Amino acid sequence: MNIRNVPVNTPLLDGNELKYLTKCIETGWISSEGPFIKKFEDEMASYVDRNYGIAVSNGSAALDIAIRALDLEKGSEVIMPTFTIISPAQSLINSGLVPVLVDCEEDTWNMDTNQIETKITEKTKAILIVHIYGLPVDMNRVLYLCEKYNLKLIEDAAEMHGQKYNDAQCGSFGDISIFSFYPNKHITSGEGGMIMCNDLKLAERCRKLRNLAFELNGRRFVHEEIGWNYRMTNMQAAIGLAQLEKIDEHIIKKRQIGEKYYNELKDLIGFQLQKPKTENTTNIYWVFGLVAQSEELAKDVVDFLTMNKIGTRPFFWCMHEQPVFLKMGLFRNEKYPIAEKIARCGFYLPSGLGLNDNEVDYVITKMKEFVR
Ligand SMILES: Cc1ncc(COP(=O)(O)O)c(C=O)c1O
Repeated sequence: MNIRNVPVNTPLLDGNELKYLTKCIETGWISSEGPFIKKFEDEMASYVDRNYGIAVSNGSAALDIAIRALDLEKGSEVIMPTFTIISPAQSLINSGLVPVLVDCEEDTWNMDTNQIETKITEKTKAILIVHIYGLPVDMNRVLYLCEKYNLKLIEDAAEMHGQKYNDAQCGSFGDISIFSFYPNKHITSGEGGMIMCNDLKLAERCRKLRNLAFELNGRRFVHEEIGWNYRMTNMQAAIGLAQLEKIDEHIIKKRQIGEKYYNELKDLIGFQLQKPKTENTTNIYWVFGLVAQSEELAKDVVDFLTMNKIGTRPFFWCMHEQPVFLKMGLFRNEKYPIAEKIARCGFYLPSGLGLNDNEVDYVITKMKEFVR
């Protein structure tokens, strides 16, 4: 097999991306004022089964706004997983809130919802869930707890476009949810993100925070509060819209790649894979991850794949082990053994939509060769 390089991700841009982008250039609509923004927001809201979409510059910006827009009292606690990207914890802290962590499950790598209730105190005001790598969080349990304790629900569906929990779209749960459109996602806009909600007032507040908190009806340049410039450009929305037109194809392709890896690699000695299905859904395989049985094995296999020009990425690093948070005095002496293990021993294989069959076969062959 003549393979020169298999990158960890390549996007697939084979729809109307160029046509819509050309329209932006020809009409001069390149800023956030252009017509693709509303179109992308409306189409995405309809796809996810939400009333409103608010397009922003990236998924982390979406979290900043979503969390701020809920107006939780400063010092309130928000329960979230330790195993995730830094964005949700960072947004909570920047809004004066306190992240309270739980460990993850061994087979789905999602937050262990059985641990949430033990962390609820009088100060708890919300649960922030993050769907990890391809499987949704156990939403029934989360929804039950939100109802029981009157907690807000923030859903980070950054990695989960088009995935469903039973019949409901990921991104349709709770008070507010977010997506990222970074190029390794099921649909991309280059950089980009979207906040989704059903409440008009909340949507309007998000729109305001995205746009330097300009007052809707007041004099321009006079501000009552501080926001951000987190606007998406019309060019990003043009790409996003073209991608959304092909989302169902993208999902089928991602599942095909993931299922092929799973079937070929499930019996490899020394490695554990994310569950292919739960009772509520089948894996959408945002990325195809493996957890080696030791750190040493993880390092050896990644070195071997790199030598063979196969791109990999390590798993997320736990929030309670982030130097920046420990320096802030957060999470000292907290231990979450499952998350610690998968963070140290986990990595993912090339999983992008641009992968071809030969490349997937090559990666599988090399993984098997390593184990032999
Ligand atoms: C779970 C999760 N949340 C948030 C983000 C942040 O999105 P962005 O990179 O668009 O800021 C990511 C990025 O991959 C993510 O995986």
